[in-house]
Amino acid sequence: MDHFQLRDGVLHAEDVPLPTIAEEVGTPVYVYSRATLVRHARVFREALSGLKNPHIAFAVKSNPNLAVLRVLANEGYGADVVSGGELTRALKAGMKAEDIVFSGVGKTHAELQQGLEEGIGQFNIESEEEGYELAAIARRFGKRAACALRVNPDVDARTHEKISTGKRENKFGVPLDRAAEIYAALAKEEGLDMRGIAVHIGSQLGDLEPLETAFGKVGALIAELREAGCSVTHADLGGGLGVPYKAGEEFPPPSEYGAMVARVTQGWDVQLMFEPGRVIAGNAGVLLTRVIRSKRSGNGPPFLVVDAAMNDLTRPAMYGAWHDFEAVEPTGQKAVQHIVGPICETGDTFAMDRECDALAAGDLAVFRTAGAYGATMASSYNSRGFVAEVLVDGDKFAIVADRIAASAIMDAERVPDWLEG
Ligand code: LLP
Repeated sequence: MDHFQLRDGVLHAEDVPLPTIAEEVGTPVYVYSRATLVRHARVFREALSGLKNPHIAFAVKSNPNLAVLRVLANEGYGADVVSGGELTRALKAGMKAEDIVFSGVGKTHAELQQGLEEGIGQFNIESEEEGYELAAIARRFGKRAACALRVNPDVDARTHEKISTGKRENKFGVPLDRAAEIYAALAKEEGLDMRGIAVHIGSQLGDLEPLETAFGKVGALIAELREAGCSVTHADLGGGLGVPYKAGEEFPPPSEYGAMVARVTQGWDVQLMFEPGRVIAGNAGVLLTRVIRSKRSGNGPPFLVVDAAMNDLTRPAMYGAWHDFEAVEPTGQKAVQHIVGPICETGDTFAMDRECDALAAGDLAVFRTAGAYGATMASSYNSRGFVAEVLVDGDKFAIVADRIAASAIMDAERVPDWLEG
């Protein structure tokens, strides 16, 4: 459930009519709802209430906006970060260092060092090589880094191939059949406190079964490690829960996920950790856009050219993803339309032959479910700036990220003297 609803014929974010935001901030603009973020954070926590002291780390990559992170920090969430930049953000937003987990297949030397210096809670090590590098840095600092070893369970998450991470051929984690040996070797390093196993098989999962299979493999590995004399006190089960992008689509609710986790992990005797992203932020945001014009070419449906483009919301171009598209002030009239952005390539298409609210030049509309992997994946392609972001809370709203004009991006560029004349 989200807080973007029609009231008196006008789409609102909580108590704020979206035309008010369009007028004051301009379009395109991402609009987030605090009440929706809070609700999702609580529903997810509640779903895990059958577990002993679960640790929940919001996947910062899904929505790194500082205000969004602060909302989640206030809900007691930690952070799952994958770069030095995300680590800095999480701390700045008020997340406690000990509640931060550092994932990622290519942490640099500087990033490993930053994590150690900040005293983060856990590194999710993705290779033997990374483990030894971290051990060396930790020794130099006279510290011990708490670590989980990320395993690749070779499970097909049955999601889009670009966001599947747990198959043997994917770059993530260490192969399951070498995990015990690598874990035992790293556990001998004085700079490392090997304390757990981590797994994450993909994103936008519509089915719990692959997760259950992967978790089962983690359980067997934990037993094997203990038999070999290794200590295992933590298991990080990653993120991945899918959300509906189309009205009426059904996804397993967090409660079902929580029940499955409780069943599969019974007897593990570890602290369980989670890294949800999309399920918390996805439906807590929309991308508000204005129709620039409607044009016809040939006999087909009209092209609605909107002022948002693939650089602002890249998921349709990148994954062929569906985002519901709705008028902010629907007339009740429906039409089949192509919805495209202004960028000069055919890939800048949000939807072809979409049956949705009939719209005309000047009308406002939203792409729904844009709160996760939306603004954060933006680029400045075609010398378009970066879209502004707004957070709504009841009847008030604030700009939580300024629009960055193309000219500001250009300010970082220069033409060397030797090109002059
Ligand atoms: N943990 C790890 C290690 C991850 O790699 C990810 C997402 C998450 C947690 C959070 O997964 P979530 O709960 O959000 O599914 N840009 C793509 C999604 C990429 C996901 C990458 N990893 C999209 O727009 O669909």
